[in-house]
Amino acid sequence: MSTVSALMQVMTGAVRKAGRKLARDFNEVEHLQVSRKGPADFVTAADLKSEEVLFAELSKGRPGYGFLMEERGVVEGTDRSHRWIVDPLDGTTNFTHAQPHFAISVALEREGELVAGVIYNPATDDLFHAEKGRGAYLNDRRLRVADRRNFQDCVIATGLPFFGKTGHARALKELHAIMPMCAGIRRYGAASLDLAWTAAGRFDGFWERGLKPWDIAAGMVMIREAGGFAGAIDATGDVMTTGDIAAGNEFVLGELRERLKKVSG
Ligand code: IPD
Ligand code: CA
Ligand code: CA
Repeated sequence: MSTVSALMQVMTGAVRKAGRKLARDFNEVEHLQVSRKGPADFVTAADLKSEEVLFAELSKGRPGYGFLMEERGVVEGTDRSHRWIVDPLDGTTNFTHAQPHFAISVALEREGELVAGVIYNPATDDLFHAEKGRGAYLNDRRLRVADRRNFQDCVIATGLPFFGKTGHARALKELHAIMPMCAGIRRYGAASLDLAWTAAGRFDGFWERGLKPWDIAAGMVMIREAGGFAGAIDATGDVMTTGDIAAGNEFVLGELRERLKKVSG
């Protein structure tokens, strides 16, 4: 069993409180789903409410820390060395379609380094948490990335661009480069959970392009603390800037990078 630090108590307290609201709203969506208008406005409100709770709770727990939040953007703090990176609802499309695969993602950056992350799915009550040097956990269970070294046995998660995004043709070429070589590809629709599930060994690896810092910050801490590696697809760029990320154990990350390198953009 993990000993929970004061920092983790602040983070998990905040995501659980925001998660209770999201879970209630999710039940509502399951009903609204069938209406023709759909639950879009309702979901926007749920997203904003979740962010409000996270902002209030994290500010109360650690006064003065700054924020980078998906909806509010940058909120400067008086403490220049700490910043929360927050996605109040990751997997919005799943949420609007009454699919119980979405999460709240919160990471802490200290002096520009990611030092803690929490990813919470209120629909399943899966709470993933990790702190630099203290390991990664799903609830009380310690996590390790999968150890597979045979790419043919690996299940790989990814994300695909949708309406309003660019890169559809490239995504197809990349799928073509990975699909025939592995045991299966999954596209579940919440990047934070893709990373958390990779940390938990449920996926052997993950790649996606064009993600935002709030999609990946907590997941990167999770992967590293589970003994895995997360970094830029091209192994050189800054993943927090480009959002082009690959993750897995050392072998799987190497395979993904090697195979994706051969695909032209
Ligand atoms: C999205 C999800 C999805 C990924 C998209 C993200 P949102 O985040 O993480 O898996 O493919 O690129 O934008 O919009 O649901 O917070
Ligand atoms: Ca997101
Ligand atoms: Ca979001």
